[in-house]
Amino acid sequence: MKILMFGKGGQVGWELQRSLAPLGELVALDYDSSKHCGDFSNLPGLADTVRDVQPDVIVNAGAHTAVDKAESEPELVRILNALAPGVLAQEAARAGAWLVHYSTDYVFDGSGTRPWTETDTPAPLNVYGQSKLEAEQLIQATCSQHLILRTSWVYAARGGNFAKTILRLAQERERLTVIDDQFGAPTGAELLADVTAHAIRHLRQRPDDAGLYHLVAGGETSWHGYANYVLAQARLLQPALQIKATEVLPVPSNAFPTPARRPHNSRLDTRKLQAAFSVILPDWKQGVARMLAEAL
Ligand SMILES: NC(=O)c1ccc[n+]([C@@H]2O[C@H](COP(=O)([O-])OP(=O)(O)OC[C@H]3O[C@@H](n4cnc5c(N)ncnc54)[C@H](OP(=O)(O)O)[C@@H]3O)[C@@H](O)[C@H]2O)c1
Repeated sequence: MKILMFGKGGQVGWELQRSLAPLGELVALDYDSSKHCGDFSNLPGLADTVRDVQPDVIVNAGAHTAVDKAESEPELVRILNALAPGVLAQEAARAGAWLVHYSTDYVFDGSGTRPWTETDTPAPLNVYGQSKLEAEQLIQATCSQHLILRTSWVYAARGGNFAKTILRLAQERERLTVIDDQFGAPTGAELLADVTAHAIRHLRQRPDDAGLYHLVAGGETSWHGYANYVLAQARLLQPALQIKATEVLPVPSNAFPTPARRPHNSRLDTRKLQAAFSVILPDWKQGVARMLAEAL
C-alpha cells in the first residue's frame, strides 16, 4: 500500500509518520517539501502531487489551525482548509484512492450539554469552523472512499501544548485563572494517529464503513478541570517541582475575549466509531498522564 500524507510536521502529522510507517510505503510532505508540492495554497501543485505519487491512501493532517488568526484571513483559510482538501478529494476519486481527513468539534455551535453525534446539524461559530465544515461537504460530495474524523482539543508531547503552558505558569504565578464553561475531551495526537492506522487497515477490508466519525478520548472535562488534573499529576510525578500556584480560579469564557467565538459544548459522541472499528477510546486522563510523564 502506498500512502501520501500531508502536514507531516504538525501535531497529528508527526505521530502519523510513526503509526502509518508499518502499513506500507509512506510519502510524507509539508508545505515546504521540495520533491513534491505539499503547499495547500498551491491547488494545481497538490493535484500534480497526487498524480505523480499515485497513492492508494491520502491522509490529510495539514490545516490552518490558528483559530483566532483565521478571523482576519478568511480567504486564505478557505483555500487551505476547504479548497485544498476538496482538490485532494477530487484527485483521490479520480485515482480510486482513499482520503482520510480530520475535522473538528468547531463545526458545531456548542449549544446544549449532550455530546454531538454525526447526524447533528453543524452550525459553526467562526471562520475556522466554517472552513472545516466546507471541507467535509466537498469531500462527501466528491469522494465516496473517505474517512472524516472529527476531533477536539488536540495535544501532543512534541512542541507546546495547554498542559505545558499551565505547568509553566503554575511555576511563575501564585494564582491562575482558567475557563470553566467550555467542555470537551483533550485528545492525544498519538491516539488519533493510532486509530487512523487501524481504521485504514479496516477500511481496506470493509469499504462500506467509509464515512464521517467522531474520534476523541473518553470522558469529558473543562479547561479548568484539565488544568487542575495537570497540576495534580505534576505534583504526584515530580514532587520536587516548584509549583507556586495555590489556586486555579474558574472563570467564564468572556473573561478572556478572543477574536473567534468558541463553542461551549465540544463533547463528541464516539459510539459510531467504536462500534464500526471495534476500538475502545481510553479516558482523556490516561493520555494526558502519559504525556506528562514524558514531559516532566
Ligand atoms: N489542534 C486541535 O486542537 C484540533 C482540534 C480539532 C481538529 N483538529 C484538526 O486536526 C488536524 C491536525 O491538527 P494539528 O493539531 O496536528 O494541527 P497543527 O499542529 O497546526 O498542524 C497542521 C499542519 O499543517 C501545516 N500547514 C500549515 N499551512 C500549510 C500550508 N499552506 N500547506 C500545507 N500545510 C500547511 C502546518 O505546517 P507548519 O507547522 O509549518 O505551519 C502543520 O504541519 C487538522 O485538520 C485540524 O483542523 C485539530
